[in-house]
Amino acid sequence: MSVIIEPFRIKVVEPIALPSRAERERHLIDAHHNLFALPAEAVTFDLLTDSGGAAMSAAQWGAMMIGDESYAGSRSFRRFEQAVHDLTGYRHIIPTHQGRAAERILAQILVKPGCVVPNNSHFDTTRANIEYNGGEARDLVIAEAADTTSTHPFKGNIDLDRLEQTCRRDRDRIPFGMLTITNNTGGGQPASLANIREVSRVLHEHGLPFILDACRFAENAYFIKLREPGQADRPVAEIAREVFRLADGCTFSGKKDGLVNMGGFLALDDTTLASEARNLLILTEGFPTYGGCAARDLEALAVGLHEVLDERYLEYRLATVRYLAQGLNDAGIPTVQPPGGHAVFIDARRLLPHIPPEQYPGQALACALYLEGGIRSCEIGSVMFGRHEEEGGFLPARLELVRLALPRRVYTQSHVDRILEICASVAARSADLTGLEMTWCPPYLRHFTAKFRPVAASAVTTPAAP
Ligand code: F0G
Repeated sequence: MSVIIEPFRIKVVEPIALPSRAERERHLIDAHHNLFALPAEAVTFDLLTDSGGAAMSAAQWGAMMIGDESYAGSRSFRRFEQAVHDLTGYRHIIPTHQGRAAERILAQILVKPGCVVPNNSHFDTTRANIEYNGGEARDLVIAEAADTTSTHPFKGNIDLDRLEQTCRRDRDRIPFGMLTITNNTGGGQPASLANIREVSRVLHEHGLPFILDACRFAENAYFIKLREPGQADRPVAEIAREVFRLADGCTFSGKKDGLVNMGGFLALDDTTLASEARNLLILTEGFPTYGGCAARDLEALAVGLHEVLDERYLEYRLATVRYLAQGLNDAGIPTVQPPGGHAVFIDARRLLPHIPPEQYPGQALACALYLEGGIRSCEIGSVMFGRHEEEGGFLPARLELVRLALPRRVYTQSHVDRILEICASVAARSADLTGLEMTWCPPYLRHFTAKFRPVAASAVTTPAAP
């Protein structure tokens, strides 16, 4: 098979930061071993997230120039509305500044104390918006998702039996059901078309609306084309359209498969709900023909939604993630199998079995990758989800992962090759890596601002109470 190339050439470049080892050491100490606290100019490869860092195309930049910034009735809004409508088929398209703003509006309208919202796995902000309104965000992903070695092709599938049970038992407490495609929290794993069809059937049989968290809908559609029997010959755009039509609406962050740096939307079929959503939109996001966006952002998003369904782009996109995962595995670094659509997740517990969870093996690995070669990654383990109980016990996260997320159209194959060299040299001396002690953390979302120091530096093991 011939080499899969980046299906673009580069017209604008941005210099990459190349701090020395001594500079990286200083930056890491200044950041209290929390990579969120690093200044961007201290980072060579920024794999913290795939959100908002995409490189826009010449066509997107061109479209921005014709943005109609009228407060009301902007032509750009109509172009954006048409593009989203053509893709999703939903009647009401409500622009928001990013995905969580759409989630906030939806939750504020529909979620009341005692409500239950089923999903394969809720993303943090979706969960937080549901819980903030007094609801329970219930994860019903299939059991295979918990096994990092299982090669099930659709580990983002919802467990249909548990969904059916939840609908039977809690029917009156469920305002809507969700499905996150791809399932970010579960490793960027796709849901199959068969599963999405069944989710639609079950929810609709119970008279419940079905809302997609569609941030990575194009990657999910391409996985369906690659992996699902009978789908190989369908255009990916057609698969994506079918998926949207199985649901009654979606929340969307344009910062992922919209190929833009900011923007999103809430799309709904239901006219009453959409009218309530627009009322809330005006309170905090803006008038319904711009939401929280500049009109030029809406223009870029309209073009991005078209470009992301280019199959040569999607072929390259998923090939890049596979290439990174394969290279890591070849260097003896275990990753969640199979690789997802937007990121590779290193299994830090298996790579660093000598570091106990209360010394944060994922964070230790993330810091080592930064020190070795300036890679910024994100721990998804006991820093994010671990808990110190009242009696002083430590409750670790289920998995200790480090996510290497790939921003879209940003890094080339030689960048990935260098990233692999860095990871391999850290893995070669993994037995020498030591853990970290958390010295401070805030009461909520502690991974963003927690402070650490290497365990060797002190004997204290309990973080200060928030
Ligand atoms: N849903 C999913 C599945 C996401 O991955 C994200 C963001 C959101 C909703 C919220 O969208 O950031 O535009 O408000 N994920 C980013 C990440 C932040 O790094 O995984 P947003």
